[in-house]
Amino acid sequence: MTHTTMTRTTDATSNESTVASNANQPSETSGGTHIQIDEVRKTFNEGQIVACDDVNIDIDEGEFVVFVGPSGCGKTTTLRCIAGLEEPDEGRILVDGTDITGLKSKDRNLAFVFQSIALFPHMSVRKNIRFGLDMNTDLSKDEKNRRVEEVAETLDIAPMLDRKPSALSGGQQQRVSLGRAMVMEPAAFLLDEPFSALDANLRDHMRVEVKKIQRELNTSMIFVTHDQEEAMTLGDKIVVMDDGHVQQIGSPYDIYNDPTNRFVADFIGSPSPNLIEGTVENGSTGLSFVTDVGTIPATDEQTAVMKERVGETIIYGIRPEYLSLDSGPGTFAADVDVIEPLGDRDAIHLSANGTSLSALTSQGEIPRHTDRVQVELETEEAWLFEKSGARIT
Ligand SMILES: Nc1ncnc2c1ncn2[C@@H]1O[C@H](COP(=O)(O)OP(=O)(O)O)[C@@H](O)[C@H]1O
Ligand SMILES: [Mg+2]
Repeated sequence: MTHTTMTRTTDATSNESTVASNANQPSETSGGTHIQIDEVRKTFNEGQIVACDDVNIDIDEGEFVVFVGPSGCGKTTTLRCIAGLEEPDEGRILVDGTDITGLKSKDRNLAFVFQSIALFPHMSVRKNIRFGLDMNTDLSKDEKNRRVEEVAETLDIAPMLDRKPSALSGGQQQRVSLGRAMVMEPAAFLLDEPFSALDANLRDHMRVEVKKIQRELNTSMIFVTHDQEEAMTLGDKIVVMDDGHVQQIGSPYDIYNDPTNRFVADFIGSPSPNLIEGTVENGSTGLSFVTDVGTIPATDEQTAVMKERVGETIIYGIRPEYLSLDSGPGTFAADVDVIEPLGDRDAIHLSANGTSLSALTSQGEIPRHTDRVQVELETEEAWLFEKSGARIT
């Protein structure tokens, strides 16, 4: 089993688990850290692998920022550049306006927490939590104990301080790992997929816990995940990455409602939005989009933007909640393939003319035996993308 823990290591493969922190410095001013990632580029293999490029991100004081994107998109590399575990080829990292790009990891006062390094099994929980303080600081014994006990209290693991990690549940071990970071009183926490080894229920629980702790400490936090749902739950600000580049930065609502391109639209939300290829046509009833599922009339707003683009191929994007299903006349007809109960709502998987679509309805709205429906679109909620994926409107 893997656990979250933290490290001061400057060598990614080291098994040392210590803490990066200037823990001797007083840090009464939690929440006061502003991190800027300025034009960062990092390549590997003599420039052949571009892990991340053109990365500009501002993490405000006390903000919870989530980096999300598919595996290999450059999240970990970006985080490691912030931690000082990688040296960027170009660009700078600033903390409260000071350029720290040249500073060693251990001098950055940032706690890096990640999956897959175990707690020390032979040490008590207390010693595990205190480890970074023992290794990196000359704080008094009283001060160390005070911090350990305070953190254990916050994390609700105080009764377990004298047990060995093996006597703890997975979630409690996870909290011990967080505790090791917290006792260092870092300027910011950097967490790289810390919950990916936990089962779904525990992961949900830990998300709420970590968000509560972050609110309580009011310390800036950067959290990396490939899971869009986790990103939506945790982030004050979400940074969506793909292929080494930042695609969009915004609040969860911005990202969900107003994606800057087809990638972001498709990546965020479940079930995924419907993305339907079509052609812009100008007919007797006005502008419309002729797609495989049927002809969809343009709204006045879309007409204003698209009237110069007649004949172009576009992608018509619309979230499942904006499809309404009925037996009466609709924009087009579709076969019902699968009805997937999600709790209060049902996801209805449809096919229209060979194209797969999904709709979200309230529970039981479409009876289980239904095999054909009429589909109506809330067209004013649709997005239009160029074939390349760039958002038009
Ligand atoms: N040390 C390394 N050497 C060579 N390539 C690397 C190294 N670290 C990361 N990469 C490559 O850089 C890209 C981004 O990786 P990473 O930052 O780990 O992505 P993510 O965390 O989003 O999954 C990937 O193509 C990965 O294979
Ligand atoms: Mg990673």
